[in-house]
Amino acid sequence: MDSLTPSSLLHLVIFFFAASWYPVKSEYIAYNTTAGIVPGKINVHLVPHSHDDVGWLKTVDQYYVGSNNSIQCKFRCRSVRAERVDSVVSALLEDKNRKFFYVEQAFFQRWWRQQSNAIKKIVKRLISSAQLELINGGMCMHDEAAAHYIDMIDQTTLGHLFIKQEFGLIPRIGWQIDPFGHSAVQAYLLSAQVGFDALYFARIDYQDREERKDLKNLEIFWWGSKTFGSSADIFAGIFPVNYEPPPGGFYFEVNSDSPVVQANITRTNHIMFTMGTDFMYQYANSWYREMDKFIHYVNQDGRVNALYSTPSIYTDAKYLENEVWPLKVDDFFPYADGPNRYWTGYFSSRPAFKRYVRVLSAYYVAARQLEFFNGRNNSGPTTDSLGDALAIAQHHDAVSGTEKQHVANDYAKRLSMGYAETEKVVSLSLGCLAGQFSNSTCYNPAMNFEQVY
Ligand SMILES: *[C@@H]1O[C@H](CO)[C@@H](O)[C@H](O)[C@H]1NC(C)=O
Ligand SMILES: *[C@@H]1O[C@H](CO)[C@@H](O)[C@H](O)[C@H]1NC(C)=O
Ligand SMILES: *[C@@H]1O[C@H](CO)[C@@H](O)[C@H](O)[C@H]1NC(C)=O
Ligand SMILES: *[C@@H]1O[C@H](CO)[C@@H](O)[C@H](O)[C@H]1NC(C)=O
Ligand SMILES: *[C@@H]1O[C@H](CO)[C@@H](O)[C@H](O)[C@H]1NC(C)=O
Repeated sequence: MDSLTPSSLLHLVIFFFAASWYPVKSEYIAYNTTAGIVPGKINVHLVPHSHDDVGWLKTVDQYYVGSNNSIQCKFRCRSVRAERVDSVVSALLEDKNRKFFYVEQAFFQRWWRQQSNAIKKIVKRLISSAQLELINGGMCMHDEAAAHYIDMIDQTTLGHLFIKQEFGLIPRIGWQIDPFGHSAVQAYLLSAQVGFDALYFARIDYQDREERKDLKNLEIFWWGSKTFGSSADIFAGIFPVNYEPPPGGFYFEVNSDSPVVQANITRTNHIMFTMGTDFMYQYANSWYREMDKFIHYVNQDGRVNALYSTPSIYTDAKYLENEVWPLKVDDFFPYADGPNRYWTGYFSSRPAFKRYVRVLSAYYVAARQLEFFNGRNNSGPTTDSLGDALAIAQHHDAVSGTEKQHVANDYAKRLSMGYAETEKVVSLSLGCLAGQFSNSTCYNPAMNFEQVY
């Protein structure tokens, strides 16, 4: 509370007054959330998550600080910033059984840079005890149709490098829950070869999904590469509906049938409830308190076992089962979410922006090599801002073209600013390589070139 205004004081007085007149018996209950996996029972893995678009209806900055709330303010008006993460951190500290995982590094790193050493220490502890996990780990959840594979690798590398340097960890799980269809390249190159143990996603053709439910084929082994075969396959899980709590749209209103129904379309005794959706956990306690109750009462009942979990725990549980998984070999494209509803327009929408991303992507690759040859000057112009802008531009509402116009303008502006800085790196490096400058500007030539006759 910022300040006690006369009117809020009045409300407070009325509240206590009313409370003394109508005593409500509401006591603190310590919910039992200790449950782990119970063999032989249906295990309902509650995985708390939030899906934070790195730009869509609002720019990445507007999402971060929670501004421009004139538009679609249902939950998208909320900010990603401190309030959210702080709120999750304090909810995790309250009960060590609670778990959370975070995906979009563009937001996380920005938040991290603004934290005190004390907060960083607490968060590091939560991460090392696996209460808080960083998964997927790229700057954004990249698009899989319009993005070039080099850009996907670069934006994933930027995120993973930070996680490695800061926490000494490598993300284990791919979490591409919102891109509009999925490519085999994502399976073998951006999952198996990145070192993931599993890849989870939601959007596949609606008829394919129905058939997979009937055959219990939502969880599969995906061979994305004919060349690399089984050495590049990945365990992949497709959600039965989307990435919201099941059945779509219920938030804590527990339908007692639903775990059983979901178990009926899933192999093994482990099912995942994705507890969250776009820009959630603004006030984390309201979610955790309800999940505490869910776990407490479901386990008291005892027919199924509910537990706090993460995609990593869920994946380990699946690997431990002696189960044969169906095989999948090609893409999940095009994506249709209903009859005559093919999400194919985005393959070619905003062509000028798509071209701009491609051109600068090629320029960035060349510029980084020149930057390396000449030696990197951390305080001088670098290629970093272009790298950042390109990373964000691979988001599934950026290069795809599905964002609002003002958001597309913002992505283009970031690219343009990154290009302007990178141009300086390039001209300096070329000058040095060509022996134009013999002064201190060419500070650390990594290599000397000679013409060979
Ligand atoms: C809490 O739940 C776990 C399993 O769900 C059970 O083993 C344990 O005995 C319970 N603890 C209490 C105090 O009821
Ligand atoms: C806020 O969002 C609206 C609707 O998308 C957009 O027209 C407007 O330009 C945005 N305002 C700013 C300052 O970005
Ligand atoms: C489980 O699946 C079978 C076959 O698809 C179906 O007949 C049955 O009604 C399902 N049970 C539940 C609880 O959904
Ligand atoms: C690095 O760049 C800064 C700013 O452009 C410059 O002042 C400095 O001399 C450069 N350092 C070296 C070693 O060239
Ligand atoms: C040193 O290098 C810079 C390039 O940034 C160039 O503009 C300048 O003329 C050079 N100075 C000398 C004395 O060579």
